[in-house]
Amino acid sequence: MLNCSAMTTEPKSITPNQTIKNTLAFTMPLLNEAQAAELILSCGQLGSDPSSNYFTPRTKNIAYVICFKGQWFQIRANYFLQPEQYNDFSGGYKRYYQELSENFLASNATKKVLNTLKSTYNLPDNEPILVQVQKSHITIDNAGQCLTGQGIHSDGAERAILVCLERNNIRGAKNAVYLDLEGEKPVLNPFILKQGEGMLWHDNEVFHHVEPAQPLHDNQESSRTVLIAHYPATHYLTGTVNPNNRLGTRMVEESKRLRAKPRQRS
Ligand SMILES: [Fe+2]
Repeated sequence: MLNCSAMTTEPKSITPNQTIKNTLAFTMPLLNEAQAAELILSCGQLGSDPSSNYFTPRTKNIAYVICFKGQWFQIRANYFLQPEQYNDFSGGYKRYYQELSENFLASNATKKVLNTLKSTYNLPDNEPILVQVQKSHITIDNAGQCLTGQGIHSDGAERAILVCLERNNIRGAKNAVYLDLEGEKPVLNPFILKQGEGMLWHDNEVFHHVEPAQPLHDNQESSRTVLIAHYPATHYLTGTVNPNNRLGTRMVEESKRLRAKPRQRS
């Protein structure tokens, strides 16, 4: 068994059969290039993400999924509501998105990602998991902008996985994990999550962050596509606070809170 320190400051590569459920955050190779491409294809065309009008443009599809006796099923729901206690910037109102294609759960690459999250943390059957596949569109004009609008934050869940599906002509977009909102106590120092690599973390014990990105070559399209999945997810449907996540959020100025602005829906 690998002795994985929860306080490491370097990303760890851990093979899937090692005991890691108590590690606060770690990385692992998960998909090869063909599997990452297959997963992206299975999502269908990504729809708009109106909240990203306030940071780097992003397109996104979402799905709520459950595992029942080893098979994954999709629940029809096209929104999530993240309580403002976790996201003072874009929490506190229903955010509507296009749902992931029905091909999504037919993809073996998708199933590999979901099964990895479920088995790593012994997640129960029949409990919804929220999956988001999103693409940040980076240009010379928005280079250096925040990719999420949130800074260092928790998503309000308990367990989560982030898989990089594509890095196209970019530098930066380093991920990091911290014990504090100020970023003074690193668990994983900023690092590049490469295509096909996954980062798994305890979302109710540590905060995460992604740094801005810049195009490598100015005259070419630049993007980064990731899959993020969170457990539990019922509170994203109801907008209630997860009693098992008390990490909170950094406050933003009232004028910047999206819940206070006129709604733009996709
Ligand atoms: Fe996040």
